[in-house]
Amino acid sequence: MTSLVRVPAPILPREPRVRALKGLVLAGGKGSRLRPLTATGAKQLVPVANKPVLFYALEQLAAAGVTEVGIITGDTGPQVEAAVGDGSVCGVRVTFLPQPAPLGLAHAIVTARDWLGAAPFCMVLGDNFLKRGIGPFVDGFAAGEGDAQILLKRVPNPSAFGVAVLDPDGRVRRLVEKPAEPISDLAVVGVYFFGPEIHAVTATLAPSARGELEVTDAIQGLIDAGYDVRATVIDDDWVDTGKKDDMLEANRLVLGTLGRRIGGEVDAGSTIVGEVMVEAGARITGSTVRGPAIIGAGARLADAYVGPFTAIGANCRLSGCEIEHSIVLEGGVIRAVETRITDSLIGRDVVVERSPLKPKAIRLMLGDHSVVDIA
Ligand code: G1P
Repeated sequence: MTSLVRVPAPILPREPRVRALKGLVLAGGKGSRLRPLTATGAKQLVPVANKPVLFYALEQLAAAGVTEVGIITGDTGPQVEAAVGDGSVCGVRVTFLPQPAPLGLAHAIVTARDWLGAAPFCMVLGDNFLKRGIGPFVDGFAAGEGDAQILLKRVPNPSAFGVAVLDPDGRVRRLVEKPAEPISDLAVVGVYFFGPEIHAVTATLAPSARGELEVTDAIQGLIDAGYDVRATVIDDDWVDTGKKDDMLEANRLVLGTLGRRIGGEVDAGSTIVGEVMVEAGARITGSTVRGPAIIGAGARLADAYVGPFTAIGANCRLSGCEIEHSIVLEGGVIRAVETRITDSLIGRDVVVERSPLKPKAIRLMLGDHSVVDIA
């Protein structure tokens, strides 16, 4: 449902955006597609190559010169605050902006309105991952291109996203949130540029069918009021990390860029092949690690095989097992499991081990919404 929006059409040409852009990063929401990990943790803190996915957004804003950043938080706010601190870990200065309930992306803008003031801003969804960052788009918008800017990417499954229809000159004509009928294959990426005009629109939005104030409706409101909304179709790798396989894909993309650095101890009986980061304090004995992979600080690998596209978190313990194309969060233990583990996302302090108990059987203690595939 697109709500009716009436805002005054622009009268005077806008001043160039000489003032620095602010950043608005969204780190609330439920993360229901990543349960059970998100039953206890924020989806934006699930690690990609051993770093919370949220940190990539913050670092990319910093790299683009946007250092004043507001972070919208929800129920998991205390965890996000503990992880991000004052933001200096990512090169930004952070203000936390609690959203009273997950009422949509445009509602997040309403929540941030006082903090944003009259500043133009770049809004980034904290679970979106763009491999090459946002530098050129920040520069273009700051230089005055358009009243608002969005990024689009051609996708095979547009009904999972907001989608855009463009005019022949590249301006955005129409936006629809998760259309049932395919109207375009251009998905809206979770990086948006707005000026203060957006606040007049968000103030008039009505909730969509899913009960949220949709940012797509807000942008449509700008278009309907005569503002110049531009779009850039990107060819960068983009992942909306809502689900396990998306996390694994983002992990694969980052691991491929990390290079090789052996910071921990590797014994003579071990083989480290290719681009592998072994963080300080990790110890690898009698094992093979085939990159790209990362072994976190303080992790122990004994008689183990870690294959390509795998991130082993800090202080994990792996012995007598094989794993590849997977993410193991901090403190995970995998012991004496003969079957190779693949395509897996294993939560904090999880234990997977072979049992000597009779009867010979699989014994599980899994959180709600866990998924187990047995060969
Ligand atoms: C949100 C937006 C959608 C956009 C997507 C990008 O969807 O509503 O327009 O394409 O993020 O990740 P959601 O993740 O809330 O389903």
